[in-house]
Amino acid sequence: MKSTILTGIRANSELTLGNFLGALLPMVRLANTHSADSHINIFVPDLHSIISAVDGELQQNVIKSLKNYLAAGLTVNKNIHFYRQSRVPAHSELCWILNCVASMGELNRMTQYKDKSEGKDSVNVGIFDYPVLMAADILLYDAKYIPVGEDQFQHLELTRRLAERFNRKYNEIFTLPAEPKAQIEFMSTGGNDGIRIRDLQNPEKKMSKSNPAPNSKIMLSDEPTVAAKKIMSATTDSLGKIQYDMFNQPGISNLLQIEALTTDTPLQDVISTWAGETHYGDLKQKVAESVRVLLEDFQTKLAEISDQQILDLLESGEIYANEVANQKLHEAQVAFGLR
Ligand code: TYM
Repeated sequence: MKSTILTGIRANSELTLGNFLGALLPMVRLANTHSADSHINIFVPDLHSIISAVDGELQQNVIKSLKNYLAAGLTVNKNIHFYRQSRVPAHSELCWILNCVASMGELNRMTQYKDKSEGKDSVNVGIFDYPVLMAADILLYDAKYIPVGEDQFQHLELTRRLAERFNRKYNEIFTLPAEPKAQIEFMSTGGNDGIRIRDLQNPEKKMSKSNPAPNSKIMLSDEPTVAAKKIMSATTDSLGKIQYDMFNQPGISNLLQIEALTTDTPLQDVISTWAGETHYGDLKQKVAESVRVLLEDFQTKLAEISDQQILDLLESGEIYANEVANQKLHEAQVAFGLR
């Protein structure tokens, strides 16, 4: 049986360089390497999108979001499957079944839920249940590798736990996704943790589209020279040495990480190249140029992709996804006594 590599990015708004380097580009690189012998499922979690406000028109954003993969260099073949979560009803069905396996306590501990609900008077149930739907997205397809940024690892662990609990209690139905460590090795980013591209002004935090400060983030639609300037003005430190130390030098480490990912070079090689150097300006100039070239190339390709290309891919992808997902859902329903 072919294994499945699966990922999704919500279509709420424009993507940042963090989404791109943390999730999209690793998926494209893995897909291009493995699509001869694995299924590559790239879906838009549009049901996850509606937990919060969507900028613009959701359906149009979905198409835009999928275009990003092609513009980032994804080579399409019969093993690449594009689909919308909402067009495969088995996701919501399995989510409900898994809701009856998950506990309130474990969902309460999810840091993304804590972050998204902090300081709010009223929080919708979708935000709370987000990780269970995510588990369904993964388990329906027996996906082993899930290229996502580090902020999603807690959800992957929950997915493993729910699958394990279900299998133990009912029947051995679900394939457990690989452990986070194995996911990282598979994504071969080097380093000890997953990818978390940092806020350029405050590198303690992750780069996020929700930060209103324009210099804190690079958007994929940024004019490439403007993006390069943002790198030049990134916050660093006063230690005067270039080394990878996310704890004491998050700004410099972030630049090294960005350089490795934009130039498709192992992080360790980038670290060695700069070891012993002291001029932060030189590093910034190199990274700024790498980001400029990446964005220029990406934006040129993006302009050449038509909506129709994506709609055609969705049509065949959704037939495939429904077939696979319905079969797994059926097994889960039988195990639960629903059939
Ligand atoms: P979303 O749209 O919030 O995030 C999309 C992806 O971008 C990654 N990411 C980052 N990576 C590195 N540095 C950053 N600063 C950064 N900011 C965001 C996220 O880790 C994510 O991989 N829950 C998923 C969507 C989803 C999903 C799934 C993914 C729903 N179901 C099933 C895989 C499998 C999410 O975070 O989307």
